Amino acid sequence: MAKDQSRIEERILDALRTVKDPDLRKDIVTLNFVKDLRVDDGKVSFAIELTTPACPVKNEMEQWARDAVMKVEGVRDVDITMTSAVSKGAVGGGKQAIEGVKNIIAVGSGKGGVGKTTVTVNLAIALAQSGAKVGLLDADIYGPNVPLMMGITGRPHAIDNRIQTLSNYGVSVMSMGFLAQDDTPLIWRGPMLHSVIQQFLHQVDWGELDYLLIDLPPGTGDVQLSLTQTVPLTGAVVVSTPQDVALQDARKAILMFRQVRVEVLGIVENMSYFQCPKCGEQTHVFSHGGAAATAEKFGVPFLGEVPLNSSLREGGDAGKPVVVAKPDSPEAQVFVRISEKVAAQVSIANLEGTTQVTIE
Ligand SMILES: Nc1ncnc2c1ncn2[C@@H]1O[C@H](COP(=O)(O)OP(=O)(O)OP(=O)(O)O)[C@@H](O)[C@H]1O
Ligand SMILES: [Mg+2]
Repeated sequence: MAKDQSRIEERILDALRTVKDPDLRKDIVTLNFVKDLRVDDGKVSFAIELTTPACPVKNEMEQWARDAVMKVEGVRDVDITMTSAVSKGAVGGGKQAIEGVKNIIAVGSGKGGVGKTTVTVNLAIALAQSGAKVGLLDADIYGPNVPLMMGITGRPHAIDNRIQTLSNYGVSVMSMGFLAQDDTPLIWRGPMLHSVIQQFLHQVDWGELDYLLIDLPPGTGDVQLSLTQTVPLTGAVVVSTPQDVALQDARKAILMFRQVRVEVLGIVENMSYFQCPKCGEQTHVFSHGGAAATAEKFGVPFLGEVPLNSSLREGGDAGKPVVVAKPDSPEAQVFVRISEKVAAQVSIANLEGTTQVTIE
């Protein structure tokens, strides 16, 4: 009886080896996704534990697994529970991890005003909507726009010497904007900037997070370097607009990340095209396709195109990003797709166990 039992379990696992994760390109048994397999008189139950809740083919995978197992002789019924446990980024090179935070992802751009903060807040919320635990650090100390875009006002307090985040739309946020609340410009120089960023990373009570997104200030200066060199980033997302000048700066950002051995998870092209709200016609205001070509040239993933759309700006200004204000709109869905791709790239980077990228 015990022998029969282990035979049927083996046949079920063999059947499940035909189900592949399309992003990780390995079967779900090899990936160790199949948990708690039980067989009782032809009734099979198991869980499939994915590496992110933001998996676009969750339902398909469940169906593929069900179909495969139903074909096994002696199986009468299949009960599958879909779960996820986000994998943890590697820590090395003398960098100090943030306790409880699995993956830190920087969002950068060479150039200012390309929509980095807009992209970051929408990605953070989309990931949170998928069920992930998400934080957002506004590392733009001089021009913190995250509080406004996330619709958060208020002052953080400390508990046991640890600064508490403020949250909205399921995202835990920290920003200089919470601490310096008037319009007086901050005139801190390099070492002070470095220490503020370090405090934001290590003295803030981030809790348990799957993804901590960092909205970097534009450019490739002090803050960017200080951050990339001191915290273990799982990777970076680069935002660009399609015109040549912006792309030139995006290339600089990619090279900066590579020099400090941070994996570029991909490029997002923002303000890619204007979609006429009346006739639906697409106009490529700032040229088109440059970010995809840059991604290909550098061998990094292209994560998607975000349209130039007034509801994106309005959402930002009103503190209600488009993924919250109009979750079913095409422009919100664009962010959902991009967030799934980012999550997949994080899983791939962690599976490969490497944040090491060769310097070109
Ligand atoms: N796809 C878009 N469609 C319409 N408006 C957009 C889009 N992306 C960004 N914007 C608007 O453009 C302005 C600049 O965007 P955002 O602040 O996100 O850029 P940024 O790269 O973070 O800028 P900075 O370099 O100053 O930090 C904002 O008013 C924002 O609402
Ligand atoms: Mg910004």
